[in-house]
Amino acid sequence: MKPFFVTTPIYYVNASPHLGHAYTTIIADSWMRFHKLLGRDTLFLTGTDEHGDKIVQAAEKQGKDPQAFVDAVSAQFRQLWPHLGIANDRFVRTTDPEHKAVVQAFLQRVYDAGDIYFGEFGGHYCYGCERFYTEKELENGLCPQHLTKPEFISEKNYFFRMSKYLPWLKEYIQANPDFIRPERYRTETLAMLESGALEDLCISRPKSRLTWGIELPFDKDYVCYVWFDALINYISALGGPEGADFQRFWPGVEHVVAKDILKPHAVFWPTMLHAAGLPLYRHLNVHGYWLARDAKMSKSLGNVVDPLAMSEHFGLDAFRYFLLREMAFGSDASFTQESMTLRINADLSNDLGNLFSRVLAMTAKYFDSVTPASAAEHDDDARIREIGSEALRNYIQLFENARFSHALDALWEFVRALNKYVDTQAPWALFKQGDTARLGSVLYTLLDSLRKVARCVWPVMPTAATGMLEQLGLSVPEDGIPTQALEQEIDMWGVLPVGGQLAASSNLFPRREMPEKEVTPKVPAVGKEKKSAAKASQKGSAVGNPEEVESVIAFDQFTAVDIRVGTILSAEKHPDADRILKFMIDLGEEEPRQILSGIAAHYRPEELTGLQVCVVANLAPRVIRGLASHGMVLTAEKDGQLTLVTVAAAAPNGSRIA
Ligand code: MSP
Repeated sequence: MKPFFVTTPIYYVNASPHLGHAYTTIIADSWMRFHKLLGRDTLFLTGTDEHGDKIVQAAEKQGKDPQAFVDAVSAQFRQLWPHLGIANDRFVRTTDPEHKAVVQAFLQRVYDAGDIYFGEFGGHYCYGCERFYTEKELENGLCPQHLTKPEFISEKNYFFRMSKYLPWLKEYIQANPDFIRPERYRTETLAMLESGALEDLCISRPKSRLTWGIELPFDKDYVCYVWFDALINYISALGGPEGADFQRFWPGVEHVVAKDILKPHAVFWPTMLHAAGLPLYRHLNVHGYWLARDAKMSKSLGNVVDPLAMSEHFGLDAFRYFLLREMAFGSDASFTQESMTLRINADLSNDLGNLFSRVLAMTAKYFDSVTPASAAEHDDDARIREIGSEALRNYIQLFENARFSHALDALWEFVRALNKYVDTQAPWALFKQGDTARLGSVLYTLLDSLRKVARCVWPVMPTAATGMLEQLGLSVPEDGIPTQALEQEIDMWGVLPVGGQLAASSNLFPRREMPEKEVTPKVPAVGKEKKSAAKASQKGSAVGNPEEVESVIAFDQFTAVDIRVGTILSAEKHPDADRILKFMIDLGEEEPRQILSGIAAHYRPEELTGLQVCVVANLAPRVIRGLASHGMVLTAEKDGQLTLVTVAAAAPNGSRIA
């Protein structure tokens, strides 16, 4: 059986790990564990991406030198993973000398083959993405990722002849339908290739502009473009193309990434490999985005979910299960504590946990916690075994193909059927009737089935699965991996030894209380105050004047609104909306924000540049006539006249108004 090699993106070290990073890494971990269960040799790689402008800026902000800064943040990622049950075999850093050497050898190889050339180039450079955009790739003249205006930079640089390989790539993707999966990302890649927007790739940055990178082996005045450097991590961690691990693991490699980095993985990376004469990866597995409620998670919106806090609160296994089950791999999903509570209570506490504890409790009551023997065959037992075998077959097939949520759902068909089996067989009635033989068969069928379920969920919930197996009186090898491969499990029944000593009870997945609803500050609509005040007065509100009660908000409702001072860097009319101005505002963050405001009738754009205004910085982004607005500029209104709210004296951008 071929070895299985799974990778995550290597994460930037300009931010601490959050739910999104945890999701990809937990997927990779569960997938690796699943393949161990199939009996395959596995390798699981993750790491950190440590070069480039953004890192230097983040280090400067903290007054640290870049190396000290990257060491500290990379350690945060590395130290977090074991707390989330993640057992990566390797952790690659792009500042490792071994990685640098492989990148330089790769560059030299492509250069010697004539696929890197030196040329003058003018392009639209987005500092957020650290890359050049072609005219066609921009949307309304803005970077499609950051919605900011890129700077036009003209300089001499090195280029990878990517365009030479694009027709070949298109054919390859057409001939290999699951090379990029799910389908929608394959379609998106083909559309990119057909758009004509892709050109040669600029792969260098002059040292006069940036020194924090890997020096080009053929020109000491340049460093390598971060993406060209970062993608090579997937082979540098194997010791490069000449390493023994490369021969062993590379052909079976599965990359897992989110949709944000589709292009580098679907276009840059395969063409780079092909130009270097190396075989391609096996699949690119692309997932969607976790949204905090319905908004993108971002530091500036203050809605970033901390995975460690969640797993400590809900339990690590339950947290991992929720992530894999809730998100259909490929689509976006919304993360809320309510949905997590509902899912955990329904699937884990009720369906699985409750079933397991009932079966153990009944075995304790009727057979002193000793596994009973199964007597004569009954149609209902044969039927439940059929359902179980079918569920396991589907589970294995779906999990193998990166359809994690569907796989768990398929397995839960069996769990739900087992619950029904308990109800229809009614062991308590068999006990009353004194039918010990049938009672033994029913409980044996249930215990043996739960052993199967425990084995299947081990990749996702290693601790709970091990707990279940131990409570079933089975000894679990230290690494958790049983000797028979999971496929053999499909039709293998009657494995649980009769006479084994079982636990008397179990509480693997305690029920969770619904979290208190998040406080959403409600601003009463104009003209509604009187009506609601009247309602409050009818209800005979106990505290003071009802008018006052309705207009009062709690202190934390006020502090939930993040108002900051910012300077307008540019202002112009919205191309498609007469009443709206489009601002770029410096809020003291890494990049200026684009904010739209309906004040075009009150101000001329040119008089606003340089003005300091007050901005609600944590408002969910909105799209107005095709342009996104990342916040709201405060205005005062009287008789239809709008005036911008400003500060009495100059204040540093980003100062919080409280
Ligand atoms: N350094 C590059 C990757 C180089 S790989 C050769 C990079 N780093 S990143 O820190 O920005 O990580 C991006 C990845 O983090 C996404 O592709 C995804 O795996 C994960 N996620 C970050 N935010 C996410 C969500 N909100 N939801 C799901 N996953 C997301 O890009």
